[in-house]
Amino acid sequence: MKSLAIPLLVYATPVFAAAGDGDWASAYSKATAALAKLSNSQKVGLATGVGWQKGGCVGNIAAISSIGFPELCLQDGPLGVRYAQQVTAFPAGITTGSTWDTGLMYSRGNALGTESKALGVHVQLGPVGGPLGKIPVAGRNWEGFSNDPYLSGMAMANTVAGMQAAGVQACAKHYIGNEQELNRGSMSANIADRTNHELYLWPFAEAVRANVTSVMCSYNKVNSSYACENEALLTGLLKDELDFQGYVVSDWAAQHTTTGSANAGMDMAMPGDNFGDNNFLWGQNLLNAVSSGSVSQARLDNMATRILAGWYFLGQDQGYPTQTGWTSWNGGGGGPNVQGDHKTVARAIARDGIVLLKNENNALPLNKPASLALIGQDAIVNPSGPNACTDRGCDTGTLAMGWGSGTCQFPYLTAPYDAIKSKAATDGTTVTLSNTDSTSAGASAAGAAATAIVFINSDSGEGYITVEGAAGDRLNLNPWHSGNALVTAVANVNKKTIVVIHSVGPLILETILALDNVVAVVWAGIPGQESGNGLVDVIYGSTSPSGKLPYTIAKQQSDYGTAIASGDDNYSEGLYIDYRNFDHANIEPRYEFGFGLSYTTFSYSNLVTGSITSPGSGSSAPGGVSNLWDVVATVTATVTNNGTVAAAEVAQLYIGLPSSAPASPPKQLRGFDKLSLEAGAGGTVRFPLRAKDLSYWNSAAGAWVMPTGTFNIYVGSSSRDIRLTGSLST
Ligand code: NOJ
Repeated sequence: MKSLAIPLLVYATPVFAAAGDGDWASAYSKATAALAKLSNSQKVGLATGVGWQKGGCVGNIAAISSIGFPELCLQDGPLGVRYAQQVTAFPAGITTGSTWDTGLMYSRGNALGTESKALGVHVQLGPVGGPLGKIPVAGRNWEGFSNDPYLSGMAMANTVAGMQAAGVQACAKHYIGNEQELNRGSMSANIADRTNHELYLWPFAEAVRANVTSVMCSYNKVNSSYACENEALLTGLLKDELDFQGYVVSDWAAQHTTTGSANAGMDMAMPGDNFGDNNFLWGQNLLNAVSSGSVSQARLDNMATRILAGWYFLGQDQGYPTQTGWTSWNGGGGGPNVQGDHKTVARAIARDGIVLLKNENNALPLNKPASLALIGQDAIVNPSGPNACTDRGCDTGTLAMGWGSGTCQFPYLTAPYDAIKSKAATDGTTVTLSNTDSTSAGASAAGAAATAIVFINSDSGEGYITVEGAAGDRLNLNPWHSGNALVTAVANVNKKTIVVIHSVGPLILETILALDNVVAVVWAGIPGQESGNGLVDVIYGSTSPSGKLPYTIAKQQSDYGTAIASGDDNYSEGLYIDYRNFDHANIEPRYEFGFGLSYTTFSYSNLVTGSITSPGSGSSAPGGVSNLWDVVATVTATVTNNGTVAAAEVAQLYIGLPSSAPASPPKQLRGFDKLSLEAGAGGTVRFPLRAKDLSYWNSAAGAWVMPTGTFNIYVGSSSRDIRLTGSLST
């Protein structure tokens, strides 16, 4: 066994990152110089939000003019700038995840950051690495990217890099174990150390490696201590082991005590008071605690230094825009139009995130059908407007965002009906619309049409809003509004029934798939403002579908082996979530993790695994000990497009750890590469494997360990469509 990393377990003093890891050293020297000019009261001010709705953003820190520090604006959220108008409403994290396209992940992050900066937002509250999504019905899974830590981690890193390159500070949230909405403010997520490292912490480690400047501690308890008061989490794991250089900000009112949070390693209290009750746990209370010695001067200095360093790290001390013309609290009116050409990236993700699940006899792409019936309320924009419901808290009209704080105002929403109608006009196709979920109306529209497209959905969100009986988490994995009945009614009368699904996460599709006349199923995710345009690109074939499922679709809900906990959650499933569970327990999924059809077929050949080299020596660096990230092997393969249309394929690499490792999932994603190929063309997919990718977490040693022996290497088109197998040995 090669022990790769013995984490430093000393009280957090930021270790300056090595060259190439961003310029934290320079940020810290500026922060230290500025700190020397501040009184304790000013330092406490940096660490304490001004109070709920007391500033223009959802979170605000008062300005300190003597050091040029502005009123700091922290604003949601992960898919667009919340409450502002004339912003881009991007596809949600989950649909970004289903593109498996790191370039689009970066571009989306960059566009988000550009809009935030132009609006004077200093800290954008995203991306979401937790919930990871271990429970399929959990309300906020759609805000994150995938329940696979590697895919989520790549999306986190690329989003953070894109946002911060645009100049805004990113905030990786919610740290950690906020895997459901029910009782999120009181339950304990009891997560074993190995499980935490290999699943839940992994995406955060990637964000830290990408130099994220802030991390938001979550509402729940972890191992019986509140996340924002948990020294092992905030100081031990995050600041020491992951060498996080930035600051920990509380989720809104997730702080519970004055000294407990401070001494655990929390650095910034938001919104400051408890949602407007004027009860500040920090502020004067923190000042008193420092005077009395229950919080050390060093800890206060460290909080303030970290906050200043994050601001300097992004160069926000130089000519940063101020929030002008809009606030969160006046209905979001005014403010500059910051959309630029970002609808292009929004459309690309809406398009490339679509997963084609079923396509019998090439039912798709559509080829100038004589007549088309579009059925279901999900085909149209909410008749009261796309922003009619506060924080998108209703499931009326086409679903393009879940609900809660992770939403923004739609500048417009192109629904499927809008985009298909335009396309149909150019084709001479007659379109009939049945814009309700009425089965009789749907059947009568479908009966007369050559092709029927039924639109159904499934929504979820944050627990402060209840929609149709769902208090955040979904009630089950069935389509909403009796979607199964609607599809059945249509399929009973139309032999070419196509089902388009907008969903926050997996659904049980057995009823729909049992209908012979359902010839195609299109999984259109949570697509944002460009919903209809992205859909038209795929269903009419100007682009071949290239999305792959970022989670498993089961035959029955119980197959997942995880459910909403009514009390504390002991994470007894351990490492076996989603496909790791289906593989381990030998359960056949309906559509496996990583699955997605194309309008072409691909062949795989020429697997070259090479050999494993030893990692170099390691030193502490953001993300963990530096040699964890050394590439120790590179696997390559050839992928060839055998069909007649250009298309992209997401080639995936899974590993099986050697038998010398402790019991582990049979397959774990450790690489993917998306390749665009012209018809008939071939290309090379590359999977660089880092030392961490070939290691397991050894709790006893407190280290990642690369086991000796033979690693199984599986390369294929999904987690179960493995085309090439090989091995790598230590
Ligand atoms: C609570 C949510 O959990 C978090 O994601 C959000 O950033 C804050 N509220 C602020 O709105």
